Amino acid sequence: MRSSVMPSAEVAPAGAVPVGTVLAIRDLKTHFFTDAGVVKAVNGVTLQVREGETLAIVGESGSGKSVTGLTVMRLLARTSARVTGGSVTFRGREGEAVDLLALPEPDMQRLRGRDIAMIFQDPMSSLNPMFTVGEQIAEPIRIHKGHDRRTARKEALALLKEVGISDPERRIDAYPHQLSGGMRQRIMIAVALACEPRLLIADEPTTALDVTIQAQIIALLKRLQERHRMAMIFVTHDLKLVGEIADRVAVMYASQVVEEGPVEDVLARPRHPYTKALMDCIPRRDYGVAEGTGLKPIPGLLPNPLSPPDACRFHERCAFAEPRCAEIEPVLEAVDPSHDVRCLRWREIAL
Ligand SMILES: Nc1ncnc2c1ncn2[C@@H]1O[C@H](COP(=O)(O)OP(=O)(O)OP(=O)(O)O)[C@@H](O)[C@H]1O
Ligand code: SF4
Ligand SMILES: [Mg+2]
Repeated sequence: MRSSVMPSAEVAPAGAVPVGTVLAIRDLKTHFFTDAGVVKAVNGVTLQVREGETLAIVGESGSGKSVTGLTVMRLLARTSARVTGGSVTFRGREGEAVDLLALPEPDMQRLRGRDIAMIFQDPMSSLNPMFTVGEQIAEPIRIHKGHDRRTARKEALALLKEVGISDPERRIDAYPHQLSGGMRQRIMIAVALACEPRLLIADEPTTALDVTIQAQIIALLKRLQERHRMAMIFVTHDLKLVGEIADRVAVMYASQVVEEGPVEDVLARPRHPYTKALMDCIPRRDYGVAEGTGLKPIPGLLPNPLSPPDACRFHERCAFAEPRCAEIEPVLEAVDPSHDVRCLRWREIAL
């Protein structure tokens, strides 16, 4: 069972947040202290997302995407996870800056679900097997919006329809185990959207769904964004979907952001060899380019999370690596005011 992660003493107090910014993550470090050693799952991540904006986070399995989201939600197991540095600042409904890492747990519980919601990668981990899906959607509506049972159930029913559950009048009284995986995923989406959060962290929300339902869910998320100026962090492996849904994209590699910027700039002209390699994994037709190249996996593996190199973490797999890449750790540099890259050679290489 998850419980709130405890920040350690080095965690910085939340800084100022620009107007319009809903969430600002600065130099975040989340480490797991395991018997085998320290896993620096998130190691110096800086990101922000504005009202009405979608920030996509992409990167290979194990790069730290989910741990970043779970740290913001303060939903990592207290026993092994520690936030060892950085800050996470949320701008509340009244415009106040809230230091999420320092917030007392009862206040965090009030914020969770009402102001910040998460769609989890694993639907079963967040649905309670003891309650019907209707009860699980209606509960946050009653608690956070103060509605009576009848009104909350009506809203739950409407949400079930919106997420594409057929025969919702019957399914509202079903238990999670009576539904298919795809339906449970949609129930979880309904739970997350129940209180119209200011920030939604969607961790691969549509991966288990077929394309028709996926399109329906994406359309629903977009409608909510327009209606409530909801900010969204959208974690996905699907770069094609990034192009359709996101305003900005952050590419993560081995616990760090290696490139971040407006979607159209990053996808049209990636500056980091890893971003380019990810794009080359996708059939070219998805970008409207001539077909025929097919899938091209990135050779090699992510570095061992227990002992990542003190250098460019991508150097063993990078087609552009030179000796200094194995010695010097690159920092994020501005390509322009809205686009950052972490590569020693970004100025000289043509991708
Ligand atoms: N509870 C834990 N204890 C120890 N290490 C963990 C724990 N949870 C995650 N990690 C490690 O943290 C790193 C980042 O994991 P994370 O789940 O954030 O990856 P991800 O980018 O979401 O991958 P995926 O695309 O597979 O979902 C990985 O090396 C993972 O093994
Ligand atoms: S720093 Fe060197 S190894 Fe790393 S991505 Fe840039 S060119 Fe490749
Ligand atoms: Mg994940």
